[in-house]
Amino acid sequence: MALNRTPLIAGNWKLNLDHLQAIAFVQKLAWSLGDAKHDFAGVEVAVFPPFTDLRSVQTLVASDKLPIAFGAQDLSAHDSGAYTGEISGAFLAKLECSYVIIGHSERRTLHNETDEVVAAKVQAALRHSLVPIICVGETAEDLETHGPSAVPVAQLRAALAGVNSAADIVVAYEPVWAIGSGQAATPDQAEQVAAALRAVLVELLGDDVAAKTRILYGGSVKAANIAGFMREPNVDGALVGGASLDLDEFASIARFKQHVGL
Ligand code: PGA
Repeated sequence: MALNRTPLIAGNWKLNLDHLQAIAFVQKLAWSLGDAKHDFAGVEVAVFPPFTDLRSVQTLVASDKLPIAFGAQDLSAHDSGAYTGEISGAFLAKLECSYVIIGHSERRTLHNETDEVVAAKVQAALRHSLVPIICVGETAEDLETHGPSAVPVAQLRAALAGVNSAADIVVAYEPVWAIGSGQAATPDQAEQVAAALRAVLVELLGDDVAAKTRILYGGSVKAANIAGFMREPNVDGALVGGASLDLDEFASIARFKQHVGL
């Protein structure tokens, strides 16, 4: 982490927790972090529930003024029209989402999202002032064939097509082989790719944007390994899947400064 960037700890719930469970979880998370005197301005905490939970989470966060950000796990590339089952960025903006995850590897592989689709979704997010969390990452096969950063770098370049330098974005490096596998990248590996991704940001969006853009690591992040990642200069937070569903574990990840002495 670098001092000029506020770390972001983001919980990607995937297909877990209905809207009632979401309310209970977010309420308890806020209490737990509040009791622990978490510095929300110093480390931002965000949750990414399923679409059907978002209205409930929004109502809770607004009525109790909880210092927790939220966003969606995906959005449509289109704003409106004959697209059955799709969710518009306009709707997410109305629900006061701050962020939207785009191009998660599960969307790329299970829903055939190409780099072009990801780029169109990034544009859709930006049209509605949602901050896209652009996910990139290589498979184990890519790693063997192309080395660690070639595929994530190419994916980021493609996702940024047409993005101008005023854009507010977040990048998440998630090696596919580390997602849900219990086998996280090493901090060194994460830093190497994060540095390569930041170089792409410098090249395409300029020094200022590159210096303020947060790059997250994701893939089997836990309370026990977050410290190592956060010590790296180009890693500015984490996109957490499985461990974000365990309240104590996720709160502990968000409080990494306490248990690593950063
Ligand atoms: P994981 O998932 O933390 O369960 O590995 C990360 C993600 O898919 O964003």
